[in-house]
Order: sequence, then structure tokens, then C-alpha cells
Amino acid sequence: TLPTHVKLLDVGPRDGLQNEKANVATEHKAQLVAMLQDAGLTEIEVTSFVSPKWVPQMGDNAAVMAAIERKPGVRYSVLVPNMKGLEPALASRPDEILVFTAASEAFTQKNINCSIAESLERFAPVIEGAHAAGVKVRAALSCALGCPYEGDISADQVEAVVQPLRALGVDAIDIADTIGVGTPRKVQAAMARALKHFPLAEVSGHFHDTYGQALTNIYASLELGVHSFHASVAGLGGCPYAKGATGNVASEDVVFMLNGLGIETGVDLDRLVDAGAFISGVLGREPVSRVARAVLAK
Ligand code: HMG
Ligand code: MG
Repeated sequence: TLPTHVKLLDVGPRDGLQNEKANVATEHKAQLVAMLQDAGLTEIEVTSFVSPKWVPQMGDNAAVMAAIERKPGVRYSVLVPNMKGLEPALASRPDEILVFTAASEAFTQKNINCSIAESLERFAPVIEGAHAAGVKVRAALSCALGCPYEGDISADQVEAVVQPLRALGVDAIDIADTIGVGTPRKVQAAMARALKHFPLAEVSGHFHDTYGQALTNIYASLELGVHSFHASVAGLGGCPYAKGATGNVASEDVVFMLNGLGIETGVDLDRLVDAGAFISGVLGREPVSRVARAVLAK
């Protein structure tokens, strides 16, 4: 039997907007967050405290966190790559921070300019500092299903990084398919390794939809009992350090599938479609979400 509830985290404001060429105004980012929480999302990834030289799109991180109107029951997370990012991140009062590394050496170099081992060393004081401030720490494991530079990634490679992340005290793990090449059995194999080290409720699937496999991979994860997933409204996004990577699976598409399965998310599909239409309008294009397009065409 499948889980009865799913916790959906919308990464649109962060993963979605980090890769946009057009400059999105801080107030539009805050408005997107407002519309997502009004649609019933209770987990939102808002921004990144990374180097503005690397990702200028997230350069207004503190301003966005100051501009959002916090709603009780909603948890706001931000990315933190190193100690330099920790202080301003904590000052912005997130409920959770996200450190990020990868199952692939080559991707880790391109994305955060260090080896996997060095990334773990960098995270140690970040994790300690966040916990000292009472803030939960998640870790994203990029390229868990494949790497744009190294190709195939094995479940052994996934576990080889999941295990030390847990040993460092990370509370939760995201199995991330950065370039969307995962397929259901391979996803289950990667998830199974994460589940060896983290509690079921603390394992999330973060699937980009580049090859159109993301919904299937969510279903495959549900079969293992995994009930926490990331998605991005309107299907926004990509990763600047993974050429050709498209956005995350669209939140609208995930909610439509889960509604059909009778799995609760607490999200109102029509209001979610409105949020996606809003940000797509700001970006001057149609939502990528197939469900959003179908709903809007009615
Ligand atoms: P570096 O160049 O090796 O670091 O970058 P550095 O320590 O030499 O610093 C270089 C400059 O950046 C310095 O400034 C630092 O002060 C500054 P300068 O002295 O030249 O004026 N700096 C910072 N500024 C603000 N905040 C900071 C910070 N750190 C350094 N935190 C670094 C290393 C990690 C900083 C860099 O590589 C970086 O910022 N990378 C982030 C890349 C990124 O954001 N990628 C996208 C997010 S991950 C993702 O999308 C995947 C995910 O969705 C899961 C999936 O799908 O796979 C999560
Ligand atoms: Mg991502």
C-alpha cells in the first residue's frame, strides 16, 4: 500500500529561479512564496546563501527572506554551501538549511569547487552552527542517478556519501536526480541506500524532469513508503552547473497524480496553478507543467 499523505516541498523560488536569465524582482519572488503558501504548500525552499559571483540570481537572498510574509505552519528553507553563507542565512531566520554535495566528484567540483571529501569537511561546522541555533539541516545529494560529466552513478556511490552525511549529523537527505536520467528501479535502489541510514520520514525525492521520468520515479519511491518530494511550480528551473538540465517535476503535475491516487498533500490545485501562471507571466512564458496548461485551457 502507498502512503496516505505526502509532504510536498516547492523549490520553485530557489531551484526554479536560480537558472533564469531574466532578473526576477525581489518583490515578485516574495509574491511567489505568498501564492505558494496560500495554495497550501507548507514547505518552501526560498533562496540560496551562495556566492553571488556564482549564482547572481540568488544575490538578493537576505532581501527575499525579509520580504516574505511568514505564515504559521509553513517552513522556509535556504541553501548554505559554507561557513561564509551560514551567518547571513541564520540571520534570515530559516526553519531549515540545506547543504549540498553530490555522488559524483566531477559535478561537486563544477558546482561547489571542491571534492566530495572537502565538501563534507566544509559542512561539519555549518551543521554544528545550524544545530546550535536550533535549525534543522538537510543535505542534497546531487547526481544520485547519473552525472552530466561522469555518466552512470551506482547505488554504492550514493551510499558512500549518504553514510558520512548522516555521520556528520545531517537530519534529512534529498536524493536528487539533477539531470533527470533516473528510471524507477534505479531510483528504488538509490532510495533503499538512503533508507539504510536515514529515517523514512527524512528521505526526500528531488527529481528533475529532463527525460520525462519524474512522476514515474515519484511513484516508484512511494512504493518504498517514501512520502516527501520536491517539485517546482510551473516546472521552473534547472541547475547552472548541469548543462541542459530542465526544471524539477512540476508541482501541479505531482499534485494531480497524488489527488488521483487519493494521497493527501493539503495543496489546492487551482490556487497552485494560479501561482505558476503568475511566475510564468513574470518570466514571459507559459508554464512548463502539462497539468497547468490543461487547467488553464479549460
Ligand atoms: P569558491 O570560489 O571556491 O569560494 O566558491 P571562495 O571561498 O574562494 O570564495 C570566492 C568568492 O565568493 C569570495 O569573494 C567569497 O567571499 C565569496 P571575493 O573575495 O572574491 O570577493 N563567497 C560567498 N559570498 C556569499 N555567500 C557565500 C560565499 N562563499 C564564498 N556563501 C562556493 C565556492 C561554494 C562559494 C561556490 O562554488 C558557490 O557559491 N557555489 C554554489 C553553486 C550553486 O548555488 N549551485 C546551485 C545550487 S545546488 C542545486 O541546484 C542542486 C539541487 O537542486 C539538487 C539537485 O537537483 O541536484 C540542490
Ligand atoms: Mg535541483
